[in-house]
Amino acid sequence: MAERVLPQHLGIIMDGNGRWAKKRGLPRSAGHAAGAKVFKQMVLYCGDIGLKYLTIYAFSTENWKRPQKEVLSLVSLFKIYLKDALDNFLNRNIQVRFLGDTSVFDPQLRKLIDEIKEASVGHTGMVLNIALNYGGRAEIVRAVRLLAQDVQQGKIKPEEIEEADIASRLYTAGEPDPDLIIRPSGEQRTSNFMLWQSAYTEYLVMDTLWPDFTPADLERAFDIYAKRDRRFGGI
Ligand code: FPP
Repeated sequence: MAERVLPQHLGIIMDGNGRWAKKRGLPRSAGHAAGAKVFKQMVLYCGDIGLKYLTIYAFSTENWKRPQKEVLSLVSLFKIYLKDALDNFLNRNIQVRFLGDTSVFDPQLRKLIDEIKEASVGHTGMVLNIALNYGGRAEIVRAVRLLAQDVQQGKIKPEEIEEADIASRLYTAGEPDPDLIIRPSGEQRTSNFMLWQSAYTEYLVMDTLWPDFTPADLERAFDIYAKRDRRFGGI
């Protein structure tokens, strides 16, 4: 049987939690709780099938605009699932990394993040990037600042700056760009996710709301991806 074509790096914008809850007459937090369960299930599934890199958009730099109650419910879910990750992801050799400025979170969440980063050292399995307080534009601004510092210190000249110098200062430094980004819930937007890295990424918008997303939906996405003709600007 021919080997199936899996993306090396998959990105997922978990979307539709609020609509899922609304349809059921539940608070938005119930949608996020259901979405968090699916997050765990998908990470384990992707690890089991041998995916190399998985990036999950969990909280954007713009999500702070949501009511405080909703932000607090999300932060408490992050704590529950990151604690769980310490047992259930790290014993599977998964390497967990974080994209975004996590210094703004409360000490309890920051401590968990540090513990997970430390426990991931030496792991060689799937790389799981969790984007938390992440924005593609903020990430590029950060890279530009780092580069400007290096110019100021005479480490690099402006005319020497190349794409790779930006890429190596992004949170994803050293990782391949995403091959496929899935956005459930039908919204056709990038929402500031991996702006630099997704220049040639295949996008797939699926109608399923994130809390209803199953491994079968993921497999359907992989089948569609495998049939795409990627040309990277060539012919
Ligand atoms: C978008 O749906 C979803 C979010 C902003 C939060 C996603 C976070 C989780 C599922 C928590 C679990 C994550 C981890 C890392 C443990 P939406 O609320 O915008 O949906 P809507 O467009 O239907 O309103």
